[in-house]
Amino acid sequence: ALPEGLANLADFEASAQARVDAAAWAYLNGGAADELTLRANRTAWDAIQLQPRVLRDLSGGHTRVPLLGRELRHPLLLAPIAYQRLFHADGELATAHAAAAQEAGLILSAQASVDMEAVAAPMLADAAAGPLWFQLYWRDDRDFMRALLRRIEAASFEALVLTVDAPVHGARDRERRIGFKLPDDIRAVNLGGVKKPLDLQPGQSALFDGLMPRAATWREIDWLRSESKLPLLLKGVTHADDAREALARGVTGFIVSNHGGRALDTLPATAELLPPLRAALGSDIPLLVDGGIRRGTDVLKAMALGANAVLLGRPYVHALAASGALGVAHALRLLRDELEIAMALSGCKTLADAGPALLWPGNSPLK
Ligand code: FNR
Repeated sequence: ALPEGLANLADFEASAQARVDAAAWAYLNGGAADELTLRANRTAWDAIQLQPRVLRDLSGGHTRVPLLGRELRHPLLLAPIAYQRLFHADGELATAHAAAAQEAGLILSAQASVDMEAVAAPMLADAAAGPLWFQLYWRDDRDFMRALLRRIEAASFEALVLTVDAPVHGARDRERRIGFKLPDDIRAVNLGGVKKPLDLQPGQSALFDGLMPRAATWREIDWLRSESKLPLLLKGVTHADDAREALARGVTGFIVSNHGGRALDTLPATAELLPPLRAALGSDIPLLVDGGIRRGTDVLKAMALGANAVLLGRPYVHALAASGALGVAHALRLLRDELEIAMALSGCKTLADAGPALLWPGNSPLK
């Protein structure tokens, strides 16, 4: 059942925390180092103000948006979040039922703790469900990657998202302080097989001699493009030159992200990163954004800054921990309702009406 008195996404946090052990909580909520980027994501959305228009005829308005050849009921997707069975026994399966019920998109983490076919089923069974995408981390084994791609395609995922901002773990102080370790019964079940152990000589760096030689480079982008016809989005590109290079190599679009402040600390907020990328790439390239989206007004601001859709991260996992599929569905419903209210009160009949003019110039990041 749902806890009493839930009015917004933040209201799920208290009951979630009561049900999640302290180490898993540190893993979920923590960011890298001083958590400056984690906090900046939130404060940047808060700092943007809206300049509403009134007396427009908004009858027949809606939240629908076009994305990768489909029309979505609304612009919300659930971000890839690893190991969701840490937070609820049904893990990613509950999340998928909720996404389908609320017509949201779902990006399944490479490190999901439930089989991808099981997660896909409720999304595929519901014609109104949003897009179903699979997030990849590069694994330095092409046979393994090829087999994984075939399985992702067979399971009817519609696009690949390669996360490029976390080739190694960020310096997550909260996790280290509490000694977070994955329990034995929660694993990345879709990544069977064993990772090769690092083979290091004395004096070599585990990071630069062990891990980085296995990380993706532009070569692997070319390989992915040649191995799968699915659209490929990169998650975590923040520099326009990297985005241009990716486009030249056949990448389809981008998720503007700083990994929820969990990878490199001191990156700008995503509300600051998005406008220059949109300006550099023009209006036709799919650009999604995540990090600190908590309110319908945040979604509207992201769209006004040029996003085609937005990803929701930690809050849906709070809802999952608090009340499983019902919680996640309720969280999505609350956010959808807030978005509709924000549109109606700001004079946007559709999200195509959310542009730079909607942002109060005094503190708009569109300089
Ligand atoms: C993540 N994120 C993430 N990203 C990714 O590409 N693959 C993954 O497996 C994970 N796993 C993961 C676990 C946890 C516990 C968190 C909190 C985040 C990052 C995620 O997709 C997204 O970028 C951020 O969470 C968005 O920021 P907010 O909404 O959490 O502020």
